[in-house]
Amino acid sequence: MEITRTLGRSGIQVSALGFGCWAIGGEWQDADGQPLGWGRVDDEESVRAVHRALDLGVTFFDTADTYGTGHSERILGRALGKRRDDVVVATKWGNVFDEDTRTRTGGDDSPAYARRALTASLRRLDTDHIDLYQFHLSDADPERAAELRDTCEEFVQEGLIRAYAWSTDDPARAAVFAEGTHCAAVQHAANVLQDAPEMFALCEEAGLAGIIRSPLAMGLLTGRHAGRPRLETGDIRSRPPAWLQGFAAGSGADPAWLARVDALRDVLTSGGRTLAQGALAWLWARSPRTVPIPGFRSVAQAEENAGAMAHGALTAEQLTEVDRILGR
Ligand SMILES: NC(=O)c1ccc[n+]([C@@H]2O[C@H](COP(=O)([O-])OP(=O)(O)OC[C@H]3O[C@@H](n4cnc5c(N)ncnc54)[C@H](OP(=O)(O)O)[C@@H]3O)[C@@H](O)[C@H]2O)c1
Repeated sequence: MEITRTLGRSGIQVSALGFGCWAIGGEWQDADGQPLGWGRVDDEESVRAVHRALDLGVTFFDTADTYGTGHSERILGRALGKRRDDVVVATKWGNVFDEDTRTRTGGDDSPAYARRALTASLRRLDTDHIDLYQFHLSDADPERAAELRDTCEEFVQEGLIRAYAWSTDDPARAAVFAEGTHCAAVQHAANVLQDAPEMFALCEEAGLAGIIRSPLAMGLLTGRHAGRPRLETGDIRSRPPAWLQGFAAGSGADPAWLARVDALRDVLTSGGRTLAQGALAWLWARSPRTVPIPGFRSVAQAEENAGAMAHGALTAEQLTEVDRILGR
């Protein structure tokens, strides 16, 4: 397998695997107290994990201004330090938040806010440009988004960003951004348990990269949840919002989802892969345009996830076998 990918039409090269920086933002919440982070994190371990990822050939990092209300961007900027220009950095805007109380307070889809958010992200990441700037409001109004697409083109002309994308699971919305010359990707959810055929088709047709969020089904595909360990109260999975599938409030992983993971174990762990590595291998086999961005919070997770690149993609026969097992 090629160990690099090109982000759509942009010519920007990235490792076939990126790292998702949501969890390393630490705890934050919605205005009603709903946890939006992954519980407590150890910043020093996060920095060590980023360094380990760099050493293992990972050159793509995805964060958002709102993760930990600015904390994730700061930690990533600090960890990259002098190696900033060796990597491709993606961040997002659209959510409004209060850094002091670590609370998300709403959303803003105006061009003026996009410019303010970009300025703040550049400062937190300690950089003079963002490689891939992503609109984070997944269900925003497409007409408003078309205006933001033009704003992003202005940012490109000003040298503030190199390319842009919409983080959305709706192919029709992704297609609105795809009309822009410097739109390089769509960020969307997909994993072996949750296929996204329409989005994969759109990426092919429009020449976009697919930045794949939740590639491990938020941890379900790592095997760690088989014993249904108790989740911390600050962990979004302990009180899952409606869009988060596979976990039930207060009781951890959904047994029906765990049963499907179990049924896939043999095929995913083929060739000496771990379960998590097999889940990433499924995504590479599903489409050559995918760049999975598993989240991480430790050096051990960084090593295991980056190690998936050496094993490469599943075979076409294994893809068929997965569909057969899941009755798709
Ligand atoms: N709207 C959006 O744009 C959006 C939404 C969601 C995510 N994202 C992006 O996508 C990235 C990844 O998605 P995700 O965070 O939703 O879920 P994910 O990658 O499916 O799962 C990540 C979680 O799995 C666990 N994990 C990771 N590697 C592991 C390993 N090797 N062994 C055992 N456990 C492991 C960690 O949690 P524990 O250690 O706590 O189990 C980690 O936080 C995010 O970091 C973020 O950058 C974007």
